[in-house]
Amino acid sequence: MRAVQITELTGPDSALSVGEVPEPEPSHFLTPGEGVVVDVEATGVAFPELLQTRGEYQIKPPVPFVPGSEVAGVVRSAPESASVKAGDRVVAFPMLGGWAEVAVAPAFLTFPLPDGFDAAQGAALILNYHTAYFALKIRGRLAQGETVLVHGAAGGVGTAAIQVAKGLGARTIGVVSTQEKERVAREAGADEVVRSDSAWKDAVKELGGADVVLDPVGGDRFTDSLRSLKEEGRLVVVGFTGGSIPEVRVNRLLLNNVDVVGAGWGAYVIGKPQLNQEIGAALHQLAADGFVKPLVGHRFPLEQAAQALHVLDGRGALGKVVLEL
Ligand SMILES: NC(=O)c1ccc[n+]([C@@H]2O[C@H](COP(=O)([O-])OP(=O)(O)OC[C@H]3O[C@@H](n4cnc5c(N)ncnc54)[C@H](OP(=O)(O)O)[C@@H]3O)[C@@H](O)[C@H]2O)c1
Repeated sequence: MRAVQITELTGPDSALSVGEVPEPEPSHFLTPGEGVVVDVEATGVAFPELLQTRGEYQIKPPVPFVPGSEVAGVVRSAPESASVKAGDRVVAFPMLGGWAEVAVAPAFLTFPLPDGFDAAQGAALILNYHTAYFALKIRGRLAQGETVLVHGAAGGVGTAAIQVAKGLGARTIGVVSTQEKERVAREAGADEVVRSDSAWKDAVKELGGADVVLDPVGGDRFTDSLRSLKEEGRLVVVGFTGGSIPEVRVNRLLLNNVDVVGAGWGAYVIGKPQLNQEIGAALHQLAADGFVKPLVGHRFPLEQAAQALHVLDGRGALGKVVLEL
């Protein structure tokens, strides 16, 4: 089969090689002896793959390996225990091996493709939307009627978080760096958008502050995020695309009665098959209700995986970046 491999840990320009590799066995490392085999039509591109080309991600398989955490396609075979069967159109999370014509995912991380989604939208669904739901609802304890501030609001996690927050009955404020990204955040459904290069914290305060801040960016905006929270607000730490890992002066938490909480989706849900299926069902309903509708800003053929990674590396993502087969 055709696949992209990471053959050396030298960054997106030189780490990748596209060619023929053997098809995988119908067994996933999380569920040995069992796995849903998917004929892949589209596969997501995300920060873990960018970091993996540099050997900087926590999952470090020996090279060469096929990266790619999420796919959409058609089930070729599935174990008895799975809720999907051969011929079903699905989205699935193989975690590795997705940048290939055939991938194998655990049954508990395989879900029906929502009606009306194309394959690229399906490939945008699991990592970002499951993370957004987990971060907002489970870790951030988001309640109906609350206000959510979303950093990186035009990116993959950001657009997903805005849509999920709207679906959970919240008001949303997006933070973005450019006018084009402002357009994308509004298209995702942001009620208000502020620019990261302006006095955004003051603008958020004028809008009444935030009950929940979802932060995939980190860096120097962290302190102003804390200052943007209302009493009993929650700042949910999701990632560090801005580069530096912020430090919290905990007196701010005491003085303002606010929380900082971490949200690491993969580590939390991997051992919880039932929770994965529950989150999948909740997102399926939000898709049916029209709230979840992934924005795919960049589509590349498999052969151009390096260019796809450069979009993320260059801060250029508008919604999700996807490889199509
Ligand atoms: N915790 C979890 O379970 C989990 C799950 C999935 C992803 N993540 C993490 O979430 C983060 C965001 O992922 P994503 O797929 O949403 O990425 P993305 O689509 O590229 O969006 C990231 C956003 O970060 C902002 N940003 C600020 N400084 C940046 C810089 N120097 N380089 C690149 N972007 C910068 C950009 O928005 P502006 O230009 O508007 O500032 C960009 O749109 C990543 O760190 C990823 O690893 C965490």
